[in-house]
Amino acid sequence: MKMIKKTCLITGGNSGIGKQAAIQLAQIGFQVIIGVRNLKRGENALAEIKEKSEKNDIELLQIDMSSKKSILKASQELKNKIEKLDVLIHNAADFDIARKQPEKSVDGIETIWATNHIGPIILTNSVMDLIKNSEQGRIITIASQGLVMHPKLSVDLKDPEFENRKLSVPNAYYQSKLAQVMYTYWLAEQLKDTAITVNCIRVTNVKVDINRYPDVSGFMRFLYSIKSRFSISAEDMAKTYTYLASSSDINLVTGKYFNEKNKTVTSSPYSMKKENIDAVIKLTLRYVGQITLANNAS
Ligand SMILES: NC(=O)c1ccc[n+]([C@@H]2O[C@H](COP(=O)([O-])OP(=O)(O)OC[C@H]3O[C@@H](n4cnc5c(N)ncnc54)[C@H](OP(=O)(O)O)[C@@H]3O)[C@@H](O)[C@H]2O)c1
Repeated sequence: MKMIKKTCLITGGNSGIGKQAAIQLAQIGFQVIIGVRNLKRGENALAEIKEKSEKNDIELLQIDMSSKKSILKASQELKNKIEKLDVLIHNAADFDIARKQPEKSVDGIETIWATNHIGPIILTNSVMDLIKNSEQGRIITIASQGLVMHPKLSVDLKDPEFENRKLSVPNAYYQSKLAQVMYTYWLAEQLKDTAITVNCIRVTNVKVDINRYPDVSGFMRFLYSIKSRFSISAEDMAKTYTYLASSSDINLVTGKYFNEKNKTVTSSPYSMKKENIDAVIKLTLRYVGQITLANNAS
C-alpha cells in the first residue's frame, strides 16, 4: 500500500526552533513548507534544511504573519499547491526586545498582538478546509514557559494593543502568548467531534541567535549570554514540535499544553477559566470577524 506523505506548514521556519523542526520533520518523511516573511532569509534556510535533512521535499511560502492580506494570499497559494494540510505549526513570533515604542502592522494593529495572536487565527481560519482534508489534522500553537513567571497575567480586554499604557515588549509578548493558549483550549473544544486536534507547546528557555537583533544594547547581550547558559538548544526544543506533529500516541489528544519533555502541563488558573476564554475569543472576533470551524460554522 502506498503511504500518503504528510504535509506540515511551519511559520517562521527560517530560524531557531522552527528551522530545526523543519529539518526533523523532513527527515522523518514529511513534506515541509516553511512560512517566511523574508524570501532571502527563507532561501538560505531552505538550502540548509535540505542539506541537513538530506531531503528535497521542502518548500518556501512567503507569509507575513502581521498582515491579513499576506496571510490570505499565502493561503491561496497553498491551496493551489496542496490538497490537504496535516500539520500547521504557528511558530513565528515577534519578540523584538529592542523596541521602545509600539509599532503598527500594515493593518494598523500593534505588531506583537497582530503577529503572535491575530495572524495565527487568520491563518488557521483560511487553511481550515485543507486541514479538514487530512485524515487527522493537527494545529499546534506556541506559548512560553515565561508565562509561569506571570501567573496573574490576563489579557487586557480594554487595551490589548498598549494604546493607553506604556509598551512593555515582554508584557505585550506574554499577553499574546497567553491569548494563544486560551485560543488553543477554545478551538480544541469547538473541534472536539472532528479528527482535528489542537495543542499548544510551552517552549522553555532556548538559545537564541542574539545577532538577529542588531539594535539590542550591550547590557542586554550580556544578560542573554548569561541566560543562554541555562538554555536548551533549538534542536532539542524542536523535538517536542516533531513529537506533537508526528506521534501516533497523541492522535486523540487535544486541548493540551505540552512542555519540552512532551509532558502535559497546566497553564494559569485564569487561562483555563471558561468565562475568561470566552471573553478573549470575543475580543479576538473583533479583529478576525469570525472563526472558521471544520464544518464551516462559526
Ligand atoms: N527562544 C526562546 O527562549 C523561546 C522561549 C519561549 C517561547 N519561544 C517561542 O518559540 C517560537 C520560536 O522562537 P525562536 O526562539 O526560534 O525565535 P527566532 O529564531 O527569533 O524565530 C522567530 C521566527 O519568527 C519569524 N517571524 C517574526 N515575525 C514574523 C512575521 N511578521 N511574519 C512571519 N514570520 C515572522 C522570524 O522571521 P525573521 O527571520 O524574518 O525575523 C523567525 O523566523 C516563537 O513562537 C517564540 O515565541 C521561544
